[in-house]
Amino acid sequence: MRMLVTGAGGLIGSEVVSYFSGRCESITGLDNNMRADFFGPEGDVRWNIAKLETSYANFKNRICDIRDKDAVQAFFREQPLDVVVHCAAQPSHDLAASRPLDDFHGGRLASA
Ligand SMILES: NC(=O)c1ccc[n+]([C@@H]2O[C@H](COP(=O)([O-])OP(=O)(O)OC[C@H]3O[C@@H](n4cnc5c(N)ncnc54)[C@H](O)[C@@H]3O)[C@@H](O)[C@H]2O)c1
Repeated sequence: MRMLVTGAGGLIGSEVVSYFSGRCESITGLDNNMRADFFGPEGDVRWNIAKLETSYANFKNRICDIRDKDAVQAFFREQPLDVVVHCAAQPSHDLAASRPLDDFHGGRLASA
């Protein structure tokens, strides 16, 4: 089974990677560290992505904004997949109220 996990560096996504790493042929993450843009340095998930890549030889993250339709479509064309687990998100309701358009519009590349 070849799996895609969006938001692989986040709380839910990284647990999905850990759980399925031994059950999948390959797992690809799509995570652009947007969490650092939302929450500042304390939200930076690069350490978690690096830990997953070190721990699981069949896991690799790709830096990609999931709101970038062209990049996501190109990824789907190039990489055969069996399962997608979609965990990339902006998880704070309060933040969503103050940045309402960010959840819908791409173009911003967080520090990656
Ligand atoms: N944590 C919980 O207890 C919980 C409970 C129920 C539902 N959820 C839902 O699950 C989802 C994930 O929550 P979480 O707690 O794992 O959040 P999280 O912030 O820990 O993880 C989200 C990940 O997505 C990445 N991301 C965000 N926007 C992105 C984009 N545009 N492109 C690529 N990557 C992007 C972030 O960098 C981050 O690593 C949310 O929808 C949340 O509401 C979470």
